[in-house]
Amino acid sequence: MAVIPVELAGRSYEVRVGSGLLAELVAQCGPLLRKKTVPVITDANVAQHWKPTVDAALTAGGLEPRWLVLDAGEGTKSWATLERVVDWLLAEEVERGDNVLALGGGVIGDLVGFAAAILKRGCGFIQLPTTMLAQVDSSVGGKTAINASAGKNLVGAFHQPSLVLADLDTLDTLPPREMRAGYAEVIKYGVLGDRPFFEWCESNGPAVLAGDKAAQEYAVTESVRTKAHIVAEDERETTGARALLNLGHTFGHALEAQTGFSERLLHGEGVALGMVLAARYSARRGYISDEDAERVTSAIDTAGLPSEIAALGLNCSGRALADHMLHDKKMDAGTLPFVLLRGIGEAFLDKQVSLDDVAEFLDGELQAH
Ligand SMILES: NC(=O)c1ccc[n+]([C@@H]2O[C@H](COP(=O)([O-])OP(=O)(O)OC[C@H]3O[C@@H](n4cnc5c(N)ncnc54)[C@H](O)[C@@H]3O)[C@@H](O)[C@H]2O)c1
Repeated sequence: MAVIPVELAGRSYEVRVGSGLLAELVAQCGPLLRKKTVPVITDANVAQHWKPTVDAALTAGGLEPRWLVLDAGEGTKSWATLERVVDWLLAEEVERGDNVLALGGGVIGDLVGFAAAILKRGCGFIQLPTTMLAQVDSSVGGKTAINASAGKNLVGAFHQPSLVLADLDTLDTLPPREMRAGYAEVIKYGVLGDRPFFEWCESNGPAVLAGDKAAQEYAVTESVRTKAHIVAEDERETTGARALLNLGHTFGHALEAQTGFSERLLHGEGVALGMVLAARYSARRGYISDEDAERVTSAIDTAGLPSEIAALGLNCSGRALADHMLHDKKMDAGTLPFVLLRGIGEAFLDKQVSLDDVAEFLDGELQAH
């Protein structure tokens, strides 16, 4: 097991990565589970595979699991489900010093984290991430949210978990497409700040995706280490350091919006395409070589992720995609900061990007390659 500390003044916690952590839940959580009854919130898919393991672990430790099993899918990050979760936690008499267990992917983590942030002005929660995306990204850093009709993640809070237990065994039941989508975020950490790790991904991506536990532990641990470091530096995204984690997200979000935030393009797939576009746009601006941009593209393609927007069959203009960016929540006083590259492993924030130029670039991408 690897242990990565997330160092935040007064709110430090650990991310533990390894196999079999859910089976050792009681020992792992120790005094964080201070009452006999333990509230666990999950979704129906995760429950099907992992409820028996968590039940067995808690009951063997003399504790009594109480379950709330929600529908799977992005639609669960809603006001209606939030109300249901909060009412259930109140009925379960959860107190401020208690910890709620969030067992699932980013949807469950974001929703339960937000419910914990507002329950009695804030109770504790423990992240038990079960997707690659949640293990390397959403469970760490304290961003919690639900979606509003005006857009994704527009209502939320910063609320750090008490502990994160990333059990690598849960990845064994993850559908391969979800696994690849989460792996896009792993490649992202290399591309944004760690060229040797990017090179490691080039060689070891297939092993990670095929379920090799040593490769998965390294991929998750290195990703969490990078995220923990950036979050410790800039917890609330005020200095710009945390904004680098949005590499690929501005382009990706526009593609997700164009495809209606649907199964047509998963979030991680949008990030993968977004990274390709950020790399190629960086080359267009003369920041990186065409070879480096194509190396990023090739790593994404090799992982079985989409790498060419022309292949999406979007039937729209570059302008239409750029227009989605105007609604980006990172928009700041009329300008949209873009995360671009000065090299593989050297992301930076460019606040001088012209959306007209981006639209022209996207027109080319929609037709080319
Ligand atoms: N808070 C953050 O910092 C942050 C960062 C990135 C993304 N997010 C959010 O994360 C969400 C996406 O997360 P996600 O990709 O984990 O999606 P998800 O939670 O919807 O999980 C994807 C699918 O896999 C299923 N699943 C989960 N674990 C499984 C397992 N072990 N075995 C079998 N099936 C399993 C789920 O039921 C779901 O159908 C989005 O809402 C996004 O906004 C948040």
